[in-house]
Amino acid sequence: MTIIVTGGAGFIGSNFIFHMLNKYPDYRIICLDCLTYAGNLSTLAKVMDNPNFRFVKASITDREAVYKLFEEEHPDMIVNFAAESHVDRSIENPEVFLDTNIKGTAVLMDACRKYGITRYHQVSTDEVYGDLPLDRPDLFFTEETPIHTSSPYSSSKAGADLLVQAYHRTYGLPVTISRCSNNYGPYHFPEKLIPLMIINALHDKPLPVYGKGENVRDWLYVEDHCKAIDLIIHNGRVGEVYNIGGHNEMTNIDIVKIICRELGKPESLITYVADRKGHDMRYAIDPTKIHNELGWLPETKFANGIKKTIQWYLDHKEWWETIISGEYENYYEKMYGNR
Ligand code: NAD
Ligand code: DAU
Repeated sequence: MTIIVTGGAGFIGSNFIFHMLNKYPDYRIICLDCLTYAGNLSTLAKVMDNPNFRFVKASITDREAVYKLFEEEHPDMIVNFAAESHVDRSIENPEVFLDTNIKGTAVLMDACRKYGITRYHQVSTDEVYGDLPLDRPDLFFTEETPIHTSSPYSSSKAGADLLVQAYHRTYGLPVTISRCSNNYGPYHFPEKLIPLMIINALHDKPLPVYGKGENVRDWLYVEDHCKAIDLIIHNGRVGEVYNIGGHNEMTNIDIVKIICRELGKPESLITYVADRKGHDMRYAIDPTKIHNELGWLPETKFANGIKKTIQWYLDHKEWWETIISGEYENYYEKMYGNR
């Protein structure tokens, strides 16, 4: 079995590569990643010497490079994690989101059509469903919830999902789509809520909470997401969408307070800043389908997962210190300087 994992130098893709190489020692895993600001080769250092692993630096939008890779490797499956993934960046500059998330998906699927594969899996997001009101805790996203996006990021992911479904119906491409809630865990890029708050707290810097901090996200430990995708690509039904989430809804402010408590830092570091434009209020996944069909259940409780995650950031300072001392410094100043 040969699998191309795109975006494997990023947060979830790298965790997925580690999971697959560990669980399936006879699989060949090829990481295709163009190493944007969010991709780090150092993340993959521990698998670089594995004879079943290959890293290829190229963009999923580069048709020639993608076709060449298919000709060289004859992959059985593609798991597409490659994306521009940060909502705040999409509000500043939507264009690259359209290129990577939509066009890149089309190029990958064209290669699948041309060379033949047994499965194309699209890693999508619960954000394609828009948001839920805070005063309706009885409502959840199911696979039948209509697509209703808020940000350029979620719109680009929804556009990609629609294309994937179109390639299935029009060309019979054997596809699956997963839509997961917010992940957390090792190698999470410092621009996202949990690592940003951990790193700022460690430096006794203000903890910038958007709006009133009442927005709710449904947090899932990254390994649980990887296990769900593993089940879908092996046992999921072609043409289907699977929601992934662990019924672990928390407000942003509660998350930040937990991080302060775990690190022994004062809540006085919390600073309320201008809200995100178009900020989604609540995400909440109904994971009944993947549970009933594939037996998936989240294994890591948030109380444990957040401890493990904080410890990982304490133990891997060189990983994130390199990131935050580079171009990220300019990003941080631009986004938070006068907020
Ligand atoms: P990330 O930003 O950490 O990593 C993205 C990776 O894709 C990076 O390695 C980057 O270099 C690579 N990449 C970007 N553009 C590329 C291109 N044109 N060609 C090749 N590689 C490219 O993202 P993440 O948080 O790991 O998310 C991975 C996927 O999972 C995304 O598709 C995202 O939409 C989806 N997702 C993320 C979450 C979450 O909570 N982080 C939840 C649900 C779904
Ligand atoms: O739901 C899945 C999505 O989760 C993925 O599709 C995205 O790729 C991923 O980035 C994530 O999107 P969010 O926008 O929910 O994640 P983020 O970490 O950016 O923000 C989480 C919440 O915290 C959100 O309500 C905004 C808030 N926030 C975020 C940052 C970075 C703050 O209050 N302060 C901050 O500094």
